[in-house]
Amino acid sequence: MISRQTIDAIFSAARVEEVIGDFVSLKRSGSNLKGLSPFTDEKTPSFMVSPAKQIWKDFSSGKGGNAVTFLMEHEQFSYPEALRWLAKRYGIEIQEDGEQTDEQKEEMKLRESLYIITEFAKKYFEEQLHETEEGKNIGLAYFKERGFNQSTIEKFELGYSPAKRTAFTEAAEKKGYGKSLLEASGLSIYREGETTGYDRFRERVIFPIHSFSGRPLGFGGRILRNDVKAAKYLNSPESEIYHKSKILYGIFQSKQAILKQNECLLVEGYMDVISLHQAGIENVVASSGTALTVDQIRLIKRLTPNVTILYDGDAAGINASFRGIDLILEQELNVKVLLFPNGEDPDSFAQKHSSEEIEEYIKENSTDFIRFKANVLLEDAKDDPVKKAELVRDIINSISLIPNIVQRELYVQEASKLLEVREEVLFKELAQSLQRRRKEFVDRKKAETETRPMEVVKTEKIEINPREVVEADLIRLIMQYGDLVVDLSDAEGNAYQTTVIEEIINQFDVNDLDFQNELYKNILEDVKLGFEAEELRTGDFFVKMFDAQKTEIASEAMFEKYSLSPNWKDKLNIFIKPKENNISKEIFDVILRFKTFYLDDEIKKCSEFLKDEELSGDARQDQIEKVMTLTRTRSQIFSKLNRVL
Ligand code: GTP
Ligand code: MN
Repeated sequence: MISRQTIDAIFSAARVEEVIGDFVSLKRSGSNLKGLSPFTDEKTPSFMVSPAKQIWKDFSSGKGGNAVTFLMEHEQFSYPEALRWLAKRYGIEIQEDGEQTDEQKEEMKLRESLYIITEFAKKYFEEQLHETEEGKNIGLAYFKERGFNQSTIEKFELGYSPAKRTAFTEAAEKKGYGKSLLEASGLSIYREGETTGYDRFRERVIFPIHSFSGRPLGFGGRILRNDVKAAKYLNSPESEIYHKSKILYGIFQSKQAILKQNECLLVEGYMDVISLHQAGIENVVASSGTALTVDQIRLIKRLTPNVTILYDGDAAGINASFRGIDLILEQELNVKVLLFPNGEDPDSFAQKHSSEEIEEYIKENSTDFIRFKANVLLEDAKDDPVKKAELVRDIINSISLIPNIVQRELYVQEASKLLEVREEVLFKELAQSLQRRRKEFVDRKKAETETRPMEVVKTEKIEINPREVVEADLIRLIMQYGDLVVDLSDAEGNAYQTTVIEEIINQFDVNDLDFQNELYKNILEDVKLGFEAEELRTGDFFVKMFDAQKTEIASEAMFEKYSLSPNWKDKLNIFIKPKENNISKEIFDVILRFKTFYLDDEIKKCSEFLKDEELSGDARQDQIEKVMTLTRTRSQIFSKLNRVL
């Protein structure tokens, strides 16, 4: 846990225009700064930053917030990751607090130390590559021979480990790093009972493997001589910070392009990633030669649902990877497959072609996975009926993994044509496959619930409901005009003056109203707390909060106030837009609209009561009168609102 004081210090030091300026080029536009949206491929700038309010708003994607939420959106950081990034950027020392056990503290210390030594090693290998004769003559020469230019080498922070057996270990020890850390990092190896260690990586070019947010976690080292009998690549062993099943090579350098292009290319090797980058294709990561894991797929899924797998077409490799692809389908990603011409791999292809040519090739030649698999297997099965039956089952099994039902049916139709099997037969096979899977699922869930307490799962709302819209309008009024003094009149027509916030709080109390939306409910609680302390909490207050959701809502409302005003009422087509753009009237209207939902609920309740056969005559009469009163009030409200009926 980062301490409150540290968070405060970070928030007061961070300037939104500086932070965003690290990623987006901004130009002055009135009191705001303006630039091209980093989230879409727009041509005219609609990305706004307000230095005065310390907020940003992207009109092309609808996103907005403060410096922290920008980092969370742009870099896909978690909240603590964003805070750590800012602390580093502004030279603020992070203090941790909270109830950590000694064990947790030790673990934290070990992780921190591992980060530090890995960073040290990365710098060491880079220095060796660029600044020593050996590094230049051997390492750098190798990279140049492979066609990498200076800026590519720097972008991927490539390095070189010298031939001397203890070069790195000695340098690290001189810096004060001890045996246990060097050993835990995997950078040095100590023989049983020995206190002097030697280097894991010797006479190899070094590829640092970065985390999602750019920290080096481990290394891959490629051999340079082909006369020695050793593995072509050596990798850091697993450690507290390096878990190879959870990392994709290149994710840090590629995440921006993957987000923007909404597609991720998946290749096998370090070289493929780097060569494609150099050729201008930057949305690419590598699984580093192993089968893809669920964690790696989830990493991609944070950025895009579209994956294209690039193969250097030998059939054996393709067959082996089918299981990996099934895993991707299961995670609801759209998978395409691309084969390279004989003898080419992504690296060699990228070295020979321009970025336009590569893009063109990918576009023209990538095939949908199911079609690809069917074709490969069909080739194999030829006229063997037993093999063909197996193949049908195999394809259908892959299709059954796709969670989307419409997509599944389209695939069945497609497979029917490809395999020359009637659709009915395939659908029957699919039904069986699904049933089997469902049973497995139920069994698994059963096993899980038996061992775990129940969890409440929140479901997301997708459709717009009118009540939600009115609730959003109320929140927007608080954010934009909460401290404004407005002229209102009560039911008897007596005029009075009050602030927007006071009016809303008052109406909610008197009529016992509340928001349904949990976030809005929460915001209103904050507003009430402020009000009790004689503070009017408007958007200015909420954009500075440490809550990504609240700052987003606040900045959205505030930018709307200054730039444009999308009109919900027009969208829903229910109410006539008031002629005068008058806040007093607007707040009056929104509250009235909000009340109608309560009346509707009450009317519904009464009707339920009246369905009860056993209701006594008097009680029945009461309910009927109540409904009549409620309905009358409701129609009075609607006539006040100029509703078109
Ligand atoms: P070049 O052969 O130099 O073009 O490198 P490459 O990155 O294209 O390697 P290749 O296609 O042979 O292998 C793909 C990936 O598998 C590599 O990038 C490594 O991550 C991994 N790999 C290959 N060989 C080995 C090995 O001997 N040991 C380990 N641990 N990993 C390997
Ligand atoms: Mn290669």
